[in-house]
Amino acid sequence: MTDPTPPPPPADVDEPDEGGDRADGGDDLVARARELVARLTLEEKASLCQGSGPWHTRGIDRVDLPATQVNDGPHGVRVPSEGDAIGLVNSRPATCFPTASTMATTWDPDLLAQVGRAIGDEARALGTDVVLGPGANIKRSPLCGRNFEYFSEDPFLSGHLAAGLVAGIQSIGVGTSLKHFVANNQEHRRMTIDAVVDERTLREIYLAGFEHVVRTQQPWTIMCAYNRINGTYASDHHELLTSVLRDEWGFDGLVMTDWGAMNDRVAAVEAGCDLEMPGPVEGAADVLVAAVSNGRLDEAALDVVATRVVALALRAQPARDPNAAADLMINHQLARRVAARSCVLLRNDDDALPVRDGERVALLGLLAEKPRFQGTGSSRINPTRVEDLRTELTAELGDDRVVFARGYESPEELDEELLANAVAAASECDVAIVVVGLPDAYENEGDDRAHLRLPRTHDELVAAVAAAHDRVVVVVVNGAPVEMPWARDVEAILDAYLGGQAAGGGIADVLTGTVSPGGRLAETFPRRLEDVPSTSQFPGGPSIVEYREGVYVGYRFHDTVDADVLFPFGHGLGYEPVDWGEATLDVDTVSDADLSDGATVTVTVPVTNQGEGPTSEVVQVYVRDLEAAVHRPDRELKGFARVDLDPGQTAEVAIELDRRAFAWWDVEEHRWVVETGEVEVLVAASSRDVRSTLSLHVEGDRLTRRDVPRVYADPPAWLAVDRVSFETVLGRTVPPNDGFGKPFTRNTPLGALRKVVQGRLLLAGLERGLRRQYGDTPEVAPLVRAMLVEAPVRSLTQSGLSLEQVDTLLDLLNGQWGLGARRAYDQVTAALRNR
Ligand code: BGC
Repeated sequence: MTDPTPPPPPADVDEPDEGGDRADGGDDLVARARELVARLTLEEKASLCQGSGPWHTRGIDRVDLPATQVNDGPHGVRVPSEGDAIGLVNSRPATCFPTASTMATTWDPDLLAQVGRAIGDEARALGTDVVLGPGANIKRSPLCGRNFEYFSEDPFLSGHLAAGLVAGIQSIGVGTSLKHFVANNQEHRRMTIDAVVDERTLREIYLAGFEHVVRTQQPWTIMCAYNRINGTYASDHHELLTSVLRDEWGFDGLVMTDWGAMNDRVAAVEAGCDLEMPGPVEGAADVLVAAVSNGRLDEAALDVVATRVVALALRAQPARDPNAAADLMINHQLARRVAARSCVLLRNDDDALPVRDGERVALLGLLAEKPRFQGTGSSRINPTRVEDLRTELTAELGDDRVVFARGYESPEELDEELLANAVAAASECDVAIVVVGLPDAYENEGDDRAHLRLPRTHDELVAAVAAAHDRVVVVVVNGAPVEMPWARDVEAILDAYLGGQAAGGGIADVLTGTVSPGGRLAETFPRRLEDVPSTSQFPGGPSIVEYREGVYVGYRFHDTVDADVLFPFGHGLGYEPVDWGEATLDVDTVSDADLSDGATVTVTVPVTNQGEGPTSEVVQVYVRDLEAAVHRPDRELKGFARVDLDPGQTAEVAIELDRRAFAWWDVEEHRWVVETGEVEVLVAASSRDVRSTLSLHVEGDRLTRRDVPRVYADPPAWLAVDRVSFETVLGRTVPPNDGFGKPFTRNTPLGALRKVVQGRLLLAGLERGLRRQYGDTPEVAPLVRAMLVEAPVRSLTQSGLSLEQVDTLLDLLNGQWGLGARRAYDQVTAALRNR
């Protein structure tokens, strides 16, 4: 693919954009869609509510309605190759950019918009109309196996970064699907678990990032999550999909299910869930037709969802171009720049980095030669090329300056000889760079991690080299935080996360000083798993998970209780010293009335590069509410800016705080309130490195404090929120956390069917089929396992069973032989009749 067009100018991702492509005729689009829907039969309208295949919506030739092609996402485009319908094993080559967790460390929405444009270009060239991403779920626990696909533990940061990516992709005329809406914060039983979360926490933590993206970028589509939220499946959640998303936030696009997340088709249409993916599901359209015919579903509701499916197809048309091409070389270079910019220098004692002229380097660890650069699961991109660190570092320094030793082979079995060779190599060199990280088997879609440790052989390698050398640099390759038992024994730690196909080059650029590292952690690195507030309630199950820690996620917890952490949220170093001048506010008092009218408070701080090379800085603004009627985290991120600085250059960084920066969600009035009181504005280099504290008086919409229940007024007893307190916050009792026994239902996880002999036979057959289809490679094994254990029975429709057949199967599994046989007889005779 080649593309002669220059890259478009950067999108201004912070400016709210009224309704996506409305300027291109959004209202007109809806009118045209309505007109087309008016010409459809009831059956045709119902058929639009399911995909026509794994990656397409249904088109209808009779009225010239084209299908829409949707593909994963989110850090590149995954279009299945011929012969592999799902594309987990084989997909068409595309640039594999750094994963979301990696790009998040740039704190740079404009850079993400640039990546988005490149992804949009490639999507267009591959025929993709909608890219399935980004994911804006919050990292409730560092254990979530899919954290590499998410941005942050903080909703403000998460929302702004996701908005950047969406702005970039959509600027090409390609859509996005913001996912997984909402409270999909774990992989364990993700298809059935009920996330029990209180209203304030849902609003302030789990919804806020989605809200920002919807309000400012209008993603073309939203993908609802698999899980339940407070008892209701995401696909059927009227309050979330209609009251919040559309009525309150003004979302004007389409909601599709995650793949296999559809629960109740009639409830979904009523809730505002427009499209079931993937399809076709035999019998699904009939369910809707029957519901309209028997009066359970208003046909007008079906018209509304059908109109959205049609509008999406029409919206995708203008950007389609069979001759579209993307410049893969330019995109690879961009991937390398982003990989370098994402590296987080966690410590750098005695300027251990960068490698200096003439120095010899021992490069140790198999990951330097066989890189891991993305996660496993539906987001796995087939890269156009791959750079490894050994080749790239050697290219930059020269053959004679790099001595490589593998150090380890297996993650858990120590190989003394490899270890000894690595130590010997280190002793020959000025600096030892040890590359360690998480293998695929440790973090992947479908599974959560069980602990935060690196593989044993990796830790042993660091320890052995650190004992023998006095200048040891550890490069960590990971999708999420890890424990670093050797952190104090080494001189430098560079966290490279999962840097995409050009990670090798990007890391080499940072090690050699070609690029000054500028990444800042978008999540806390705790010292131990036990220090994480959600740990006692993660992953929960079998059927519910309690979000007892409430709003105290990540640094909101650690900083409020002043806990010892390995590295705080927002932390990261550069190679050059940067001086921070005195920060100021443009006002010392602000009123809610003005904030409600759009006024902002501006924080300004000068930062100066005092070094000899270019560098960058990230200014972070946290707000501390000193007088809230409810308990609040000690500080919350409400603004940030990343600036590039030439040597000697000073930048006056100005950051605006809007009404939301001072508001909290009131569960009695169900709205964001701003109270009268004093707040502190913390201007900081990390959540723990505060450079200025500024005072501000806020004149709220309430002059006096209200009486709030104690449970809101007093902070929770740290880390030990008991059931009673949680229920008070929740306003109801926590539902029973039952296992799945008989009678089996459409929502029983497949794994539970093992309880009966028929179930065991069924699962054995399914397993054989899945292994035949996908093989048993480390890339797909976890997903296959998750499907077999955790997918609900209803997901068998994706293996070709009709809804009726699923129900027949359930009868048989429940030992209702008569009923099952009767149903089977009816199905067979109906099939014969229709021949
Ligand atoms: C994932 C989604 C993905 C979809 C299609 C699901 O299993 O949760 O993120 O977009 O599959 O591959």
